[in-house]
Order: sequence, then C-alpha cells, then structure tokens
Amino acid sequence: MGNFKPYPLKEVYRLIEPGPVVLVTTALKDEKNIMTMSWHTMIDFEPPIIACVVSNRNHSFNILRKSKECVINIPTSKIAQEVVGCGNTSGTNKNKFEYFHLTPTAASTVKAPLIKECYACLECKVIDSSLATKYNLFFLEVKKAWIRKEKTKYPATLHHFGRGHFMLPGKIIKIASRMK
Ligand SMILES: Cc1cc2nc3c(=O)[nH]c(=O)nc-3n(C[C@H](O)[C@H](O)[C@H](O)COP(=O)(O)O)c2cc1C
Repeated sequence: MGNFKPYPLKEVYRLIEPGPVVLVTTALKDEKNIMTMSWHTMIDFEPPIIACVVSNRNHSFNILRKSKECVINIPTSKIAQEVVGCGNTSGTNKNKFEYFHLTPTAASTVKAPLIKECYACLECKVIDSSLATKYNLFFLEVKKAWIRKEKTKYPATLHHFGRGHFMLPGKIIKIASRMK
C-alpha cells in the first residue's frame, strides 16, 4: 500500500470528527444535565437540522428520549477543563452545573437551559428518534439560536482528536467557492 499503513478501525473517529465539541444540556422535571458531545453533523440548512449520537450508556440519553428537547451549547477553550469534566462524569450522581460552576440560563423554546459561559447556544427539538435504539442517533431541529454579543469572528472552539487531545482553530484561508 505504498505510503499507507493500516489504521485501527476503532480509531477512525479520530480522523473524521468534524467538531466543534459541544455541551448538550437536557432537562426533565427538576433535573438538568450537561453532556459533552463531538459526534454530530449538519443535515440541512434551514430549518437547521443536526444529527447526533448520544450513547444509551449516558444519562442524557434517557432525558433526551423522554423530554424530546435539548440545547447544543458551543464552548471555547476558556472552559476546556469543564468540557472534558462534563464528558467524564455522569449526571446520575452529580449536578454538573454546580460541580463545574457553569451557569444555567433559561431558554426560550425548550426547558433545557443555555450555558451562559458558552459562545453560542442552539435550542433544539428532537424530530426523529427512529434510529435511537439501533444507533443512538437523534435528529434535532434548531428552533432558536443564540450567539454572544461580543462574538469574535473565529472563536477558539475545541476540535476533538481523541484521548484528551484537542485542536483549536488555526490559520484561516479563504478560497472562492460557490458553496454558501
Ligand atoms: C471530548 C468528548 C466528546 C464526547 N462525545 C460524545 C458523543 O458524541 N456522544 C456520546 O454519547 N458521548 C460523548 N462523550 C461522552 C459523554 O460526554 C460522557 O459519557 C458523559 O459522561 C455523559 O454524561 P451523562 O451520563 O451525564 O449524560 C464525549 C466525551 C468527551 C470528553
């Protein structure tokens, strides 16, 4: 295979994850939870549809299934420790908002809260969970989107390389393209 060598299938995610890493908030009754997620993709422009994998081993899976709504919060490297923390702990025995000193803020269309420390927040409703049992796959429609007023053009989002490695956006290049 010349220049190539076999790459372990279990490591493939490390090559293709698009990022950015996000924090998914969910809520049910008095409980609210946060989960770190990097397996997501855009499906459509408008209304924005996002597909994402929320493992059934996660507490968030049950809340998402029952409540059928969530917020996708986009953090920056400022809260990288908290992002990893929310991905290494379970909401079954921890209030992650209190533990990681993240601030819940009321959303406008869903019960799940926005995270004040994030630079953008997408209020979402589950529109299709027919593949959730087989693939843990949920389709979400973004109903309302928020961005920080002082937003920078290229925020320092986190992009997952696996095993605690993250890439921050680097050099930006622009190439004429018909793609919007
Ligand atoms: C960088 C990172 C990315 C992650 N991406 C996902 C993901 O895309 N889907 C998923 O189900 N879990 C993902 N996880 C794992 C969950 O965040 C983790 O299992 C978390 O403890 C679930 O919290 P919960 O049980 O309170 O819902 C990721 C964790 C990290 C650190």
